[in-house]
Amino acid sequence: MKCKKNLIVFGTRPEAIKMAPLVKEFLKNDFFETKVCVTAQHREMLDQVLDFFGISPDYDLNLMKPGQNLYGLTADIITGLQPVLEEFQPDYVYVHGDTTTTMGASIAAFYSGAKICHIEAGLRTFNKKSPFPEEINRTITGHIADFHFAPTQTSFDNLRNEGISKDSILITGNTVIDALFESVSKVDNIEDTEIKNLKSKIDLTKRIVLVTGHRRENHGQGFINICNALKEIGEAIDNVQIIYPVHLNPKVQKPVYDILGNQENIKLITPLAYPAFVWLMNKSELVITDSGGVQEEAPSLGKPVLVMRDTTERPEAVDAGTVILVGTEKAKIVSETMDLMGNPDRYKRMSKLHNPYGDGNACKRIVEFMQNLN
Ligand code: UD1
Ligand code: UDP
Repeated sequence: MKCKKNLIVFGTRPEAIKMAPLVKEFLKNDFFETKVCVTAQHREMLDQVLDFFGISPDYDLNLMKPGQNLYGLTADIITGLQPVLEEFQPDYVYVHGDTTTTMGASIAAFYSGAKICHIEAGLRTFNKKSPFPEEINRTITGHIADFHFAPTQTSFDNLRNEGISKDSILITGNTVIDALFESVSKVDNIEDTEIKNLKSKIDLTKRIVLVTGHRRENHGQGFINICNALKEIGEAIDNVQIIYPVHLNPKVQKPVYDILGNQENIKLITPLAYPAFVWLMNKSELVITDSGGVQEEAPSLGKPVLVMRDTTERPEAVDAGTVILVGTEKAKIVSETMDLMGNPDRYKRMSKLHNPYGDGNACKRIVEFMQNLN
């Protein structure tokens, strides 16, 4: 018999990847009636994830507008969720991480009277401008939420230091590792057309460097520096192939295509669906990124990561030695890449380090915790 109603809300690519295994775990459980609402803060990049994980949302607010801004998007999320919350009347609303969808959905859920469950809770840089606006989004959500699923001990400690009761926090590991393990086991078996296409475009005899980037605080000069660094690396290392699936944000597309559009060792491609991205990560020697999710995943595949940011809410990976913060200065990005690619001993040491982000059972722990509450 179904006793409690869950509404799982997400809107962007990374939230979808990290919530997909939780949706599946709840749908297997008879105690809960679980529905999914997507804000579609992202459209194409969200749909790629929904397709791969076979999730058909019960509600789709279809909010994405080209070049959207934070004011309009926030307002649309809160007002768009009102009829969904009024119709379904969930007991629990699940939000993930730190996007505008996360913050807007937690406020809307609070207004509705539902209890709020925050997945990937407690990450902090303690710098409200970096990442912008994510640090404030997750802090607001952390203070509205009733239950906090912290990926690591550090995120647990951050919440405790903000006065959150320890009984409302569970350390789970990051659900991205659940998603990654499910996908890694599939990518070598499925007949994926995107992977076939990639195989025909990429020269697998070359040393592959995978790049992604999108952070708002890197827009402008940051991206210009990043692109100039990649250009220099492409010119300096003969047998390198830099593959860059470019985020669809126009503020990212423009500098990347303007500066790197015609470089010999650099391939700019459209964002990849998750299985193709995981496949490509596995084939890469090194990952250079400003993404949160990618720096959590790549070490599980034994891939060192250079993170193009000055601050991090993921100190565990820096401490474990699986990632290095290189910022967005051209010289530092180039020198760290050249050093790692030119120093096999250092590379080998880094690629063998333990990933601190979980064991692939985060979602099981969350479902069990929620069931034991009732
Ligand atoms: C958002 C999140 C960020 C998250 C990132 C993951 C906020 C404020 N930002 O940033 O925390 O790390 O997603 O990628 O919540 N676009 C498309 N198609 C898509 C997706 C985006 O065309 O499928 C374009 C649109 O023009 C859109 C723009 O990108 O307006 C910006 O999207 P938005 O979600 O506002 O910001 P992101 O930079 O993607
Ligand atoms: N990803 C993907 N296709 C791509 C690039 C990234 O599926 O072309 C996945 C990646 O594996 C990770 C997530 O998208 O799980 C990261 O998303 P993004 O970098 O947009 O956001 P962040 O994690 O920084 O919030």
